[in-house]
Amino acid sequence: MAQSSDIVKEVKFSNGPFMPKSRRLAIISAAVVLFQLTSVPGGVARPSSTVERRQQAMKDMALAAKTIAAMFSGDVAYGKTRLREVASAFVLHSSELSVLFAGSAGSKSEADDRRIAAERKEFDEIATRLEELAVAFDRKAAQAGNEITPDMRMGSGVPGGGSLLGARPSRTEADLSDISAEHLFHMMLETCTTCHSKYRLRK
Ligand code: HEC
Repeated sequence: MAQSSDIVKEVKFSNGPFMPKSRRLAIISAAVVLFQLTSVPGGVARPSSTVERRQQAMKDMALAAKTIAAMFSGDVAYGKTRLREVASAFVLHSSELSVLFAGSAGSKSEADDRRIAAERKEFDEIATRLEELAVAFDRKAAQAGNEITPDMRMGSGVPGGGSLLGARPSRTEADLSDISAEHLFHMMLETCTTCHSKYRLRK
């Protein structure tokens, strides 16, 4: 992707683990290096920029969301294995959002980096909320059988069903486990929208 160039030029991976030009870059490169060490066998692949990585993480989540929506609507055949794969994609990416958005990314990004920096706590809270929901959804996926059962559906489990969407900013783990898989999924989508409306420039 073309947008890699600016940041890759800045965040060097030359000799040492990192030779930062500033503290900010040190933080970004440390995060990127850590990811490279754990994710690329041998570490030979060209390091992708933080912007590329966060945009890719977003795209992966969008694809995951499409897949789940299609499974629940019946447009795509339900499969337990696929559901679990998709659920873990949400867990993985939601857990890395705070790190991927730590620092200004430059013109290729659609993120409102200044606002994110100014409202760091709120941004991180939204990311954490997505992660909590993703973990709860992942647990449901792990318990799922070979077909979609009524208890996985919207409106089951929690009194009031859909009206609970976004009603409270955060829930405890116990609360979340009472909510059906489909409902949790819709709560995740709400979290995407909440964050985009504040911190994504082109919506
Ligand atoms: C905590 C904030 C936050 C959350 C939560 C969040 N996003 Fe994003 N998303 C952003 C920001 C900021 C950008 C712009 C990133 C950039 O261009 O650097 C973005 C960009 C995107 C893009 C465009 C990627 C590209 O460049 O092609 C997609 C698609 C997307 N998000 C989907 C999702 C989905 C689906 C979810 C929920 C499962 C989600 N996002 C959750 C903040 C968030």
